[in-house]
Amino acid sequence: MIVKHAEFIKSATRPTHYPEESLPEIAFAGRSNVGKSSLINVLVNRKSLVRTSNTPGRTQLINFFRINDAFTFVDLPGYGFAKVPLAVKKEWGPMMQTYLSRRSNLRGVVLILDIRRIPSEEDLQMLQWLRACGIPPLIVVTKCDKLSRNQRAKQAAVIARQIGVETGDLCLFSALTREGLDGVWGRIELLLHEGQGIV
Ligand code: GTP
Ligand code: MG
Repeated sequence: MIVKHAEFIKSATRPTHYPEESLPEIAFAGRSNVGKSSLINVLVNRKSLVRTSNTPGRTQLINFFRINDAFTFVDLPGYGFAKVPLAVKKEWGPMMQTYLSRRSNLRGVVLILDIRRIPSEEDLQMLQWLRACGIPPLIVVTKCDKLSRNQRAKQAAVIARQIGVETGDLCLFSALTREGLDGVWGRIELLLHEGQGIV
């Protein structure tokens, strides 16, 4: 995929503020600090289209980006960070469920997991929601630069078992080295064109 044009459209919390549903859409979900924004920036080959941070939980809004005037990418608010205020945590579930259940142009959700962590309850819940809404998930296991090849294979097997998929269904990725970039794009293109994923 050659990205010629990528622009921020708007941020929203509720459906009346979402942009129109005219273009196919791919959303990115995962715990705070897992690397959602970094993945989007590498995919669109822009250093800072999406703000990244060392402070987990910075993105509390649903952020929409138009790519090549052909589809939209959505950076969803991260979950699972202990220091996020309770009021914000309470809003997260309904905000996410509303988005996932109502967004008719949503073709798939990229669920991002950290190669060094066992998927959390919230990661599993997100997968459940996607399955319940019939939204194809694409699992990207990121920060793989942090582990040796040997450790990666072991962790990938643990993660795959925990979420009930085959190891081959996982896309291993690093925003630092850009490893796995073509694989992630290939699967996103499949979702955009055919609505295929692993369910
Ligand atoms: P929130 O918006 O707060 O939920 O976080 P996020 O999921 O968008 O994470 P973000 O992309 O901001 O990345 C968090 C931190 O992880 C930053 O310091 C990134 O530089 C770092 N990071 C992201 N991806 C990678 C990766 O593949 N490898 C390494 N080594 N660091 C990464
Ligand atoms: Mg972010």
